[in-house]
Amino acid sequence: GKGLAVFTSGGDSQGMNAAVRSVVRMGIYLGCKVYFIREGYQGMVDGGDNIEEANWSSVSSIIHKGGTIIGSARCMDFIKREGRLKAAYNLVTRGITNLVVIGGDGSLTGANLFRQEWSSLLDELLANNKITKDQREKYKFLHIAGMVGSIDNDFCGTDMTIGTDSALHRIIEAIDAIVSTAYSHQRTFIMEVMGRHCGYLALVTALASEADFVFIPESPPNLDWREKLCSKLEQERKSGQRLNIIIVAEGAIDREGKPITAELVKNVVVENLQQDTRITVLGHVQRGGSPSAFDRILGCRMGAEAVMALMEATPDTEPCVVSLDGNQAVRLPLMECVRRTKAVAQAMADKNWDLAVQLRGRS
Ligand code: F6P
Repeated sequence: GKGLAVFTSGGDSQGMNAAVRSVVRMGIYLGCKVYFIREGYQGMVDGGDNIEEANWSSVSSIIHKGGTIIGSARCMDFIKREGRLKAAYNLVTRGITNLVVIGGDGSLTGANLFRQEWSSLLDELLANNKITKDQREKYKFLHIAGMVGSIDNDFCGTDMTIGTDSALHRIIEAIDAIVSTAYSHQRTFIMEVMGRHCGYLALVTALASEADFVFIPESPPNLDWREKLCSKLEQERKSGQRLNIIIVAEGAIDREGKPITAELVKNVVVENLQQDTRITVLGHVQRGGSPSAFDRILGCRMGAEAVMALMEATPDTEPCVVSLDGNQAVRLPLMECVRRTKAVAQAMADKNWDLAVQLRGRS
């Protein structure tokens, strides 16, 4: 059977295990020899025990677990050609020419680069007598399929990334807990949520928790935000509300690009309204814990689709990323999605927020 390997790379997210499980089982079902690569690209470079053949039962009892059981890492060695040469050797000598990568845009970009270089890496291995002429010929094509695992929902091309829904569940649970204590003491709480440069988690959280105010990077407020915030909080209290909730995305900024931090917001509230105010930074709690039903199913469906894409690939099939489009798992050109995601980052850096939001939407 064909050699196929699956690995997780970059920050972990809930639902990655469901995806790994689905890749392994679909691969075996379709007659492949399936491998785990542990610790992301680092395991691919280091080889040895990091690359291990998987069987049907090695992915039993993992669908309900958060994180990734095969480990993940941000790998510096893979950035250098020398590291990629080692990785190519480790794959070829095991007959692996199909890769499923589960990670963010950096991890997917790395995979694409690896594929572009594959031929020249094999030539170098052959020239150094590391592989045989037969191996060079037999394994000359590398096929890649990607899936986006991230709580941030910051990747262009997919409606949801694997992990976002679970993170939202965790955040909402935490806010519900905070609300009960805030209510008792008539306090104001400022909750900082993750998402890096993406405000999706903060925005959805604010809607789902009846928050009074939200700060997100894609819609930086005008410089009079302090007045607006205070009058809104005051108005809610006057109308009988016993507490206020403010959501701050960790990447929130103002129109000048300066960070709006939970601390800054707290100072504004305390100085102007003298409200009893506390900050809760949710941190990595958002990335932990068991995956929601949605993320389990998403991981399963994407994993199966990724394997099918690889099995149908011809020598000139471009790498794909499996995306959620409405209710369908679809294949999109990987590099186009990565390019769009990078264009969003550029638009944000240029303070062109309208363009960023437009690019994030469906094409
Ligand atoms: O990308 C996922 C994420 O959790 C972001 O929301 C956050 O900014 C970042 O990773 C935290 O990174 P680390 O786990 O390295 O602290």
